[in-house]
Amino acid sequence: MVTLTAQRSTLRTTRADLIAQFIFEDNDVFKKQIAELKASLKDISAVFKAATFRGKEQETLLLYPKGILAKRLLLVGLGKSEKLNLEKLRRASATCAKTAQASKAKSVGLVEPDAAVLAKARVDLGENQWESVGKALGEGAALGVYKFDKYLTSTENKNTLKQVIIASNDVKRSKQVSKGLKQAQVVCEATYFARDLENAPANEIYPASLARRVIASARRNKFRVRVFDKKKIKQLGMGGLLAVSQGSVNPPRFIIMEHNAGKMRMPTVVLVGKGVTFDSGGISIKPAGGMGEMKMDMSGAAAVIGTMQAAAQLKLPVHLVGLVPGTENLLGGAAMKPGDVLTHYNGKTSEVDNTDAEGRIILADALSYATRYKPELVIDLATLTGACVVALGHYATGMMGNDQDVMDQLKVSGERTYERVWQLPMYEEYEKLIKSSIADVKNVGGRWAGAITAAMFLKKFIGDYKWIHLDIAGTAILDESLDYIPKGGSGVGVRLLIDFLKHWKKG
Ligand code: BES
Ligand code: MN
Ligand code: ZN
Repeated sequence: MVTLTAQRSTLRTTRADLIAQFIFEDNDVFKKQIAELKASLKDISAVFKAATFRGKEQETLLLYPKGILAKRLLLVGLGKSEKLNLEKLRRASATCAKTAQASKAKSVGLVEPDAAVLAKARVDLGENQWESVGKALGEGAALGVYKFDKYLTSTENKNTLKQVIIASNDVKRSKQVSKGLKQAQVVCEATYFARDLENAPANEIYPASLARRVIASARRNKFRVRVFDKKKIKQLGMGGLLAVSQGSVNPPRFIIMEHNAGKMRMPTVVLVGKGVTFDSGGISIKPAGGMGEMKMDMSGAAAVIGTMQAAAQLKLPVHLVGLVPGTENLLGGAAMKPGDVLTHYNGKTSEVDNTDAEGRIILADALSYATRYKPELVIDLATLTGACVVALGHYATGMMGNDQDVMDQLKVSGERTYERVWQLPMYEEYEKLIKSSIADVKNVGGRWAGAITAAMFLKKFIGDYKWIHLDIAGTAILDESLDYIPKGGSGVGVRLLIDFLKHWKKG
C-alpha cells in the first residue's frame, strides 16, 4: 500500500510528482486563494488558467507551472466551505491520488485545505478537526488507488504510486494530521487486505488457504488464531457448516481469531463473518450469468479478518474474538440436498428448503458457538441476501438486531466513516414465514422480506447476548466503482467496525 506521511512544506516546497491544491467555491475565499497562487507560482499563464477554475466539487484542473518543486499542479474543487464534510475530503483526495496515478506518478502531495476557512466554516469535521482531516485525506487517497493487480503480468498496468504527502505549513497542525494519517494507514492496510481476499479468485482463496492468510497476519500482528479442520467441526457438532461443505473437494475450516485473549477485565465482542469462498448455490444452483462474483461471498469473513488485524495494530482495549465459518457451496454426489434436516452446534434443527440459502446455515453454528465467550456483544457480517441488495442497493448495509442502543451507536459510526447502515425491522410476524413442520426452522421464507427472514433465522441461533446482524450483500460487492472504491470487493466493514469499537459505550 502507499505510505501516508505528513510534512511541513508548502505548495512551492513540496517535492512530489504531482501536487494538489484544494480550492473552495466561496467567492471571497476563491479570490484569496487565486491571489495566493499568483504569489507562489510566478507563472502568469498558469495563474491565468487557474482563474477560469470555479472550485466546484469534483472539478479539477491540471497545470504545469514554473516555480514549484512538483512537476504538476492539480487544482481540486471542494465546493462551498459551509457544506464541507469528511466524505468530501475523502473523495477529493481520491481524485488527487487517482489523477497522479493516471500519469504514472510515484508520489503525490496534497496541500492541506485552507486552515482559516476550516476554522470559520463551522462544519462538523469530527472531535479532533485536523486529525480527522488527515485521516480522511489519507483514506481517500489510499483507498482510491487500490488495484487488484497481482494477476496482471504486464508492469504497464500496475500501480506506481508509492507515497502520499500531506503538506502543512504549521507544526501543530502537521502533528495532528500525522496522527490521523497513522490511523488511516492501519485501517486502509486492513481494508486492502480485505479487498485482496475478496477479489482473489476461488482457486486461490478456499477455506484452507483463507485460514493460512489469517495465520500469516496473526504472526505479524500478534493476535491469536486457532483453526478447526473438518474432523473437529464434525466432533463439535457444527452440522450446518459440515452440510454446506459436503459437496466440495476442498474441506471446510472454522477459524477463530482473538485479540487481547485472557484480558479478564476487558469486555468481549465477538465478530462473525460469513466465509463462503465460492457460492454456486449448491443443488439449488444459481444461473450462470455473473456467478463468478460469488468468489466474494466471503466478504463478511474478509471484514472480520481485516478488523482483527487493525484492532491488533491499534491495540484497541477490547477482548475481540473473530469467528469465520469457511466453506464452499458446491454441487456433487455428496452435496446437501433440498429437504435435508440439519442439527446445529446448539442442538437446534433446520430444514433445508433451498441449498442456496447457505450463509445462514453456517452462521447458525458460528453464532451459537459465540456463546462460549460470554460476549457483551456479537456482530455478524454476511453477504447474505440478494433481497438486501434489492432493498438498499450499494449505498447502505442492512442492519438488524436485538438492542436499539448499540444499533444506534453503529449507525453513528456508519455516518462518520460513510460505511452507512440502515435498520430493517424484525417484527415477530416475520417469524411465521420460516416455520417448518418437521424441524425447528426452515432456511428460506419465501418471496417477501428476504433480508429480514434471513435475520429471523439467525435470531434462532443467538445466545444471551446483544446482537447485530449486518447484511453487506450490496455494499461489499460492487459492479461499478465509486469515488474511492474500485469495482469488485469494497472491504466494507473494516472502517465501520474499527470506528465503532473505538467509540463503543457498552451501556
Ligand atoms: N450469497 C448469496 C447472496 C448474495 C446475492 C450476495 C447477491 C451478494 C449478491 C446467498 O447465499 C444467497 O444465495 N441467497 C439467496 C437466498 C434465497 C435462496 C432465499 C438469495 O438471496 O437469492
Ligand atoms: Mn447462496
Ligand atoms: Zn451465499
